[in-house]
Amino acid sequence: MTEVVLAYSGGLDTSVCIPLLKERYGFDRVVTVLVDVGQPIEDIERGNKRAKQLADEHYVIDAKKEFVEKYLFPLIKANGSYEGYVLGTAIARPLIAKKAVEIAEQKDIKNLAHGCTGRGNDQLRFEAVFRCTPCRVIAPMRELDLAREWEIEYAREHGIDVPVSKERPWSIDENLWSRSIEGGKLEDPYFEPPEEIYAWTKRPDASKPPVVIEIGFEQGVPETLDGAQMDGVELIRELNRVAGEQGVGRTDMVEDRVLGLKARENYEHPAATVLLAAHKDLEHLVLSRAELRFKTAVDDAWSEMAYMGLVDDPLYSDLNAFIDQSQQRMNGSVRMKLFCGSAIPVGRRSPDALYSQEMVSFDSQTLSQRDAEGFAKYHGFQARLLKRKCS
Ligand code: ARG
Repeated sequence: MTEVVLAYSGGLDTSVCIPLLKERYGFDRVVTVLVDVGQPIEDIERGNKRAKQLADEHYVIDAKKEFVEKYLFPLIKANGSYEGYVLGTAIARPLIAKKAVEIAEQKDIKNLAHGCTGRGNDQLRFEAVFRCTPCRVIAPMRELDLAREWEIEYAREHGIDVPVSKERPWSIDENLWSRSIEGGKLEDPYFEPPEEIYAWTKRPDASKPPVVIEIGFEQGVPETLDGAQMDGVELIRELNRVAGEQGVGRTDMVEDRVLGLKARENYEHPAATVLLAAHKDLEHLVLSRAELRFKTAVDDAWSEMAYMGLVDDPLYSDLNAFIDQSQQRMNGSVRMKLFCGSAIPVGRRSPDALYSQEMVSFDSQTLSQRDAEGFAKYHGFQARLLKRKCS
C-alpha cells in the first residue's frame, strides 16, 4: 500500500491535489495535514469538512503558539521585511512543512506532497524542509502544469465546492501575521485593487478620530498592550482588530520572487505594521549608533533567508544569535498613533535608553559646547586637504 502526506490548507489547489494523488499518481491513501497558524476558523472548518470527504486520514495541528514564539518573535526582533513585504506567507511555510514531516515520520510514510505551483516561492520553502528527509517529494500542480480554470472544472467534477469564481478569482493565503491576495485582475499591476479584496482593514478614513495605543517590549518581544500583559497570539489578534479598524497595514507592491519573476502582490497586516514600526522606533532609543548601522545589514540578510524559507541554513541561526544578543537591552514601550491608514510612533521610553535629555537639551549646561570645537576642526579634514591641493 502506498501512502502520501499532503500539506493541506483546504483551499482549491490542495483540495484538488487529493484526488489527483490517487488518480494520477496511484497512491492508495492520502493523509492530509492542516496546520493552524491563525487563519480564519471558517477556513479550518472548511478544510476539515473537505478532508473528511476526500482524504483517508486527516490531522489538524494547532501551531499558533509555536508560530508566534518561534517564528514571529524572531521576525520582530529582526525587523523582518523583504522589499517592503512583511514576510507573512514566507514565515509560516517552514513550520507548516515541518508539521507535515512530523506526521510522515510518525506514520512511517515515505512520500510528501504540497499544492504549490511552479511559479511561486512556496514550492521552494516547502521543499527546503521536505528534502531534508529521505522522502519522495510530489508537487502535482507543478508536475502536471495545471491551470486554474482546469482545476476549478476538475474540482467541480469531484464534488468539491469551489468558492472562487471568474468574478472573485483571488488566491488568498492567511495566517496570524498577514493576509495575501493574488490573482485575477490584480495580476495587472496597473489595475487598482477593488475594496472587496480587503478583509482585515477598513478603508482609511480621515473623519475617524485617531487611536493611541502603547506597546511594551521585553528583550525585543512585544509583551503588553496598554499596560496589560498579553500572550503573543492574543496580542497580535487584538492589534489586527484595532489597527485594521483604522485602515492600517495595506500593501500594494511589485515583488521580486526568488525565481526572478516579478509579481503584483496585495497584503493586509495591521498588527505587523504596528509592531514593526514600534520595535524599530524603540531600537533607535536603545541601541548604539554602531549597533543600528550593523544590524540593518543583519536584518536584511535575515529577511532574505526568511523570504527564501532557508530557516535551516546555519547562517539563519548565526544571524539569530547576533539579533538575540542585540535585543538584551530592548526593554521599554512605544506609543503608536493609528490614524487614517498610518501607524506612527508618537512617544517612547526605556530604562535602557541611550538617550540623555540632560546632555542633549538646548537648556542644559552639563556638557560644555566649547568642547566640540576641536572635533569640528577635524571634521571634513580630508576634503579640505584635497581642496587645497586642487586650487
Ligand atoms: N508573494 C508572497 C510570498 O511569496 C505571498 C504568496 C501568497 N500566496 C497566495 N496564494 N496568495 O511570500
